[in-house]
Amino acid sequence: MYRGDAGLISDAAKWIGVRTKLRPKIAVVLGSGLGGFAEELIGREEFLYTSIPHWPASTAAGHAGKLVFGLLGTLEVAVMAGRAHLYEGYTAAHVALGVRVLGELGAKAFVFTNAAGGIHASFERGALVLISDHINLQGANPLLGPNDEALGPRFPDMSEAYSRAYRETAKQVAKEVGVRLGEGVYAAVLGPSYETPAEIRYLRTIGADMVGMSTVAEVIAANHMGARCLGISCVTNMAAGVLPQKIHHAEVLETGEAVRGTLVKLLKALLPRLEI
Ligand code: HPA
Repeated sequence: MYRGDAGLISDAAKWIGVRTKLRPKIAVVLGSGLGGFAEELIGREEFLYTSIPHWPASTAAGHAGKLVFGLLGTLEVAVMAGRAHLYEGYTAAHVALGVRVLGELGAKAFVFTNAAGGIHASFERGALVLISDHINLQGANPLLGPNDEALGPRFPDMSEAYSRAYRETAKQVAKEVGVRLGEGVYAAVLGPSYETPAEIRYLRTIGADMVGMSTVAEVIAANHMGARCLGISCVTNMAAGVLPQKIHHAEVLETGEAVRGTLVKLLKALLPRLEI
């Protein structure tokens, strides 16, 4: 079982490091159906996940599975187009490996995007929502096992897992470019089955506004390394039982595709404004 071995992280970082001169301080992780932003980078250098040592391949439909380095204006950016999930059978440490590797290469700020089911009644399908905080219900944590003190502390603080300053900047930038941006708490579940309506009522009761199957392992690893995080969910569907209809993965991907332009607009304006 993969437990976050530092040797594997540095293997992958070295493999990438000799293939590009870029050392992005900002990294973006793109979720289901949200891969489009990578194409915005100029002078792209692309690495298929399957070619990077130890990097988990992303097997979920709608995930491109490549790491892209390039420039947004003069800003060096790393984009993970597609990610690994626990439901694919990876450990939380393996899910977070990409974040670790980019951290080793110099990333200090991470922007995570994901597809999520909308629990809060004020969200509509297609809404973009800033993640204010998360609830980890995945029963997993990337920090399980021996702690590597060189990476971070045994018991990292998570009281500002999603940087307050970054959230304020995101709200300001969204206003400037005319993008509606909600804010809410993201509950992470294991999946891959969608929730039952009873589970959604439970999640609402405990304070969740969105539900999804990703992101928290990566955010925990990034916080552990002292990096700052921002999270944006795309409400691809209303959560189970909110509407009298079934949830289909095709709907999730379709919504991601429809929101793609808005998300790209927001990210392009936002990334240069994040303080590092
Ligand atoms: N539940 C969990 N994960 C999701 C959903 C959902 O409704 N939509 C997109 N990812």
